[in-house]
Amino acid sequence: MRIYFAPLEGITDAIFRQCYQACFGGVDKYFMPFVSPSQALSYTVREEFDISPAQNRGLSAVPQILAKNAEYFLGAARGFRDQGYTEVNLNLGCPSGTVTGKGKGSAMLKDADALQYFLDALYIAPPLPISIKTRIGFDDPDEWERLLPIFARYPIHELILHPRTRNQQYKGTPYREIFGKTLKRMQCPVIYNGDLFTASHCRELMEEYPDTPGIMLGRGLLSNPALLRELEGGKPLEKEDLFRFHDHLFRAYLKYWPEGAAVGKMHIFLKYFCHCLHISNRCLREAMKANRPQEYQDAAGELFESAVLKENPRFSWGE
Ligand SMILES: Cc1cc2nc3c(=O)[nH]c(=O)nc-3n(C[C@H](O)[C@H](O)[C@H](O)COP(=O)(O)O)c2cc1C
Repeated sequence: MRIYFAPLEGITDAIFRQCYQACFGGVDKYFMPFVSPSQALSYTVREEFDISPAQNRGLSAVPQILAKNAEYFLGAARGFRDQGYTEVNLNLGCPSGTVTGKGKGSAMLKDADALQYFLDALYIAPPLPISIKTRIGFDDPDEWERLLPIFARYPIHELILHPRTRNQQYKGTPYREIFGKTLKRMQCPVIYNGDLFTASHCRELMEEYPDTPGIMLGRGLLSNPALLRELEGGKPLEKEDLFRFHDHLFRAYLKYWPEGAAVGKMHIFLKYFCHCLHISNRCLREAMKANRPQEYQDAAGELFESAVLKENPRFSWGE
């Protein structure tokens, strides 16, 4: 069973990936948050940093490309190949309005013929293996009946399926039976993604679909970074794990980023970690208010000191 870390834009950047690997590990591949290439193939300074092989040394990291123009996709893919990457991933799942408004991400599932035309261009002579991360449709899960035979035509390296439609965003229950059907009908490995927030969730999926070659975890692994250790039969998450990981992340961001930006980034992580903790609202408010490193460190220290690990620590909506 392969285990992949899901790309989370604004969260699982190169610094995060290296910290996770150093503190926990156990991930077979880290998928990078998407880059959206233009003809000029110019990336922001931060993107350049995140995709640079130097910052991904020691990790199995897969760059992800968001594009509706095959030439832009292939140009970016060639660039990644030249940097030494051995796989690229196509994003067909992003539900965000700013992305779909430009006809990219999950919007590409709306027009099956146009999608086929695009995939023809990508797979005719790809510069390196292309995996795809997709949803099952835009408006309706029935769209998958039309889309699945299209995907089945191409030598897709791996198909990562988040079995929700774009309209569901991250709400409602994933259509697992559609994953099961896809597993049977595709030649390539089909990786499951969506709402695996505990070791039991992962085991249940594997029991229901024993042929599953791999799973991709996002929010669950971010909130409970020891989830894989537990899945492997090791110790479940302890409060100390979160504290140490938090500290590791904070030091790493302070090394590379301006102070204010580093603290801003820690606010994002802290919110996810708090899914696993009973905390005082006052402590959280103080930490979120802090924008200087020392101030933040003191507030986060107090938060962790007084926090109590939840009985079943996991990401959960509405908390
Ligand atoms: C904040 C955030 C950012 C995301 N960024 C990306 C991205 O850059 N590329 C992508 O393919 N999916 C992205 N996703 C989707 C996740 O990779 C994943 O499919 C989704 O969170 C469902 O998996 P989970 O239930 O294990 O979290 C993002 C999701 C979230 C919540």
